Amino acid sequence: MAPRVYVTRVIPEQGIDLLRQHAEVDVNETDRPLTQDDLKNKAAEYDALVTLLTDHIDRTVLDAGRGRLKIVANVAVGYDNVDVQAATDNGIMVTNTPGVLTETTADFAWALLMTVARRVCESQAFLRAGKYRGWGILMMLGEDIHDKTIGVVGFGRIGQAVAQRATGFNMRILYYDPVTQAEEAAARVGAEQVNLDTLLRESDYVTIHTPLTPETHHLIGATQFEIMKPTAYLINTSRGPVVDEAALARALEAKQIKGAALDVFENEPEVYPELLELDNVVLTPHVASASVATRGRMSTLAAENVIAAFEGERPPTLLNPEVLGNHA
Ligand code: GLV
Repeated sequence: MAPRVYVTRVIPEQGIDLLRQHAEVDVNETDRPLTQDDLKNKAAEYDALVTLLTDHIDRTVLDAGRGRLKIVANVAVGYDNVDVQAATDNGIMVTNTPGVLTETTADFAWALLMTVARRVCESQAFLRAGKYRGWGILMMLGEDIHDKTIGVVGFGRIGQAVAQRATGFNMRILYYDPVTQAEEAAARVGAEQVNLDTLLRESDYVTIHTPLTPETHHLIGATQFEIMKPTAYLINTSRGPVVDEAALARALEAKQIKGAALDVFENEPEVYPELLELDNVVLTPHVASASVATRGRMSTLAAENVIAAFEGERPPTLLNPEVLGNHA
């Protein structure tokens, strides 16, 4: 009998087509996240779940999958929505989609950085509102990017790709990462490793690329905004809870920093209401990896992980290799 895969939301068809060559595939066509009860039922009834970051794959879901469910293939690089320890305890593999979205996400972090620094959204809103009645030398003055200092918080793949782009702008590059061994990559782009306080004190642009873990929750909050320059900008394309949004709104109102550009939020899809009121904040709906090609590659990689698990091979981007013994 063909193994059964459940895909919790519609994903690009490449992945579904590939899965259908190896398994019986059902998809939640409603494009609304499943409830926890539905997730538990699917975990009990299927051999693989293909999940998105909107699914909370917690211990109750993974306990329900014990015995049958082989793999949870998350279509995202971040996997804070999956309790990997609970998966391991139940002998269930977990995979994510690193690598394939690095450059696209770095492109978008730069799009946000440039948009907020050069007031692109404000300028467009001004023009569309019919307020552009003649060129003005003092109109929409922003901040330069070239020759400034960028501070990269989290120097993994995406942080490094963001830093590499900064070399084209002749920037001084600082990074903070207490986890990743990245000396070689840092040397390639001329980045200097510093502690977080130094990075915050000296950077004109602070860009966040760390995963969400208990250690990085609210890594950037009131104390950190006090250290930043009043001309500095914060850019976040990682996970919302890394930044304390209430503290950010207060820091922006008090002009402790100059602006922010956020693609991720503490309680998605909600946005902290005060942030919506501010002109010097650019807000996008968690789309940093959203290019046609990259979303297709993420979908394919998730499918490849599932197929490898079914064929008794090691899934290419397995997060908990300690379960492999159970599937030998
Ligand atoms: C998106 O946020 C991802 O983690 O891939």
